[in-house]
Amino acid sequence: MTKTVYIKTVGCQMNVLDSEMVIADLKRNGYEVVDTPDAADLLLYNTCSIREQAEEKTYSALGKLRDTKDRNPEKKIGVLGCMAQKDQEVIFRRAPFVDMVVGPGQLHALPQLITNIDSGEGRQMAVSLGRTEGKQAVVARSHETFDPLRDPSMRPTPFQAYLRIQIGCDKFCTYCVVPNTRGPEQGRSPVEILSEARVLAEQGCREITLLGQTVNSYRHRSEDGETDLAGLLEQLHEIDGIERLKFVTNYPKDMTERLLTTVRDLPKCSPYLHVPAQSGSDAVLKRMKRGYTVGQYMDMFERIESILPEAAVSSDFIVGFCGETDEDFQKSVDMIERCRFKNSFIFQYSVRGGTKAAERLEDDVPREVKAQRNNELLAVQNRVAKEGNEKLRGTTVQVLVEGPSKKAGKADEDSSIVQMTGRTHCDRIVVFDGNRRQARQLLDVHVDDVTSHTLIGRVRTVELVSIGL
Ligand code: 5AD
Ligand code: SF4
Repeated sequence: MTKTVYIKTVGCQMNVLDSEMVIADLKRNGYEVVDTPDAADLLLYNTCSIREQAEEKTYSALGKLRDTKDRNPEKKIGVLGCMAQKDQEVIFRRAPFVDMVVGPGQLHALPQLITNIDSGEGRQMAVSLGRTEGKQAVVARSHETFDPLRDPSMRPTPFQAYLRIQIGCDKFCTYCVVPNTRGPEQGRSPVEILSEARVLAEQGCREITLLGQTVNSYRHRSEDGETDLAGLLEQLHEIDGIERLKFVTNYPKDMTERLLTTVRDLPKCSPYLHVPAQSGSDAVLKRMKRGYTVGQYMDMFERIESILPEAAVSSDFIVGFCGETDEDFQKSVDMIERCRFKNSFIFQYSVRGGTKAAERLEDDVPREVKAQRNNELLAVQNRVAKEGNEKLRGTTVQVLVEGPSKKAGKADEDSSIVQMTGRTHCDRIVVFDGNRRQARQLLDVHVDDVTSHTLIGRVRTVELVSIGL
């Protein structure tokens, strides 16, 4: 009999990719994916620990399963991902009806853990070693992932895929839990990455986004020498069928001239760079241990502008970090004004157990002040984003069409006109009236109007004719 699995994924792109792997693995073990927890024999929650809010949401979703488990004790519930690695037994204590706790480096163990439960061994936990629980190489191995397993049906679209090139992080920014949950930084071997990319191309994938916490710090050493991100991009660029290559997230200090010129010289590489600044104040950056000053970030930014003048740059900012004064905050506002990012993700600082900031710095910015700074920074970012997009009004952009937008009704037929959405090479979101069959195509779209997050356009007549609209 077929068994059914429901999976809920929150958090970053790494988690989206991990869920894809988990489902590929479970399908090989006879599972079928269903859309609701009610219809599932196995309920999986792939979780995020980056901020407290994400964790509390998961605990509250788990709380709602207590009754479900009472009524259907045979259903199995698994907590996967960063929270599993961080909280471990705490999860069993807070939600005793959970059957499995599985860290992001142990997801390959899932089918075996299910078998163990079925043979009466009780609840199961599989987590990787802590950063100090063994020699570096042993700890690193315990965080390795099982990436070659892919399942196109789990992707938002089958023609766009993530490909992990780096696991973990060694930067230890004082606020961040990732070096603990995902372990030491390790570059995956180029041989593995290239063979995975070829499989993706064979599956019909047109766009690959390379993933790493500090993806541009990627390095892999073997007898044949050392490969960096630029070298990897050169090799990936050769693969037929792949038309766009993106990579996230970048670390400002490692944004080298070599990488930027590689992006410039390889047409498949998107001129889109996500390079989180986190703060515009040197004092705050120092307490965050980000390893650069505002001046150094600006030097990097100017390097991008001179080598890739058309590039879109985006950032992350944390507001209300320990000791952030009004003047410090104002410097983050100034930085957005100066850099005119395409977009910025703005977060209110959230204390994370096990980090240096939690141990040594006081979380002294009141909640209301954090919320206020968040709103203010977002307003500035939205204004500069809109001004940036205005420059594209009246131009034609090339769009990889992803599918109907949220606005388009589900029931519409294949042939009717619906609002479609896609992205430019620079990662700008574009919506236009079109047709579901356009998904996967690269189309030229004329930009008629803009908002801070979206370009609103119309397909150039020549393509309308060619697709028979
Ligand atoms: N509190 C708030 N935001 C955080 N981030 C990472 N850790 C924290 C934290 N403790 C943000 C950073 C990072 C993004 C993924 O999440 O801006 O770039
Ligand atoms: Fe966290 Fe800093 Fe590593 Fe990014 S670079 S994952 S913010 S420790």
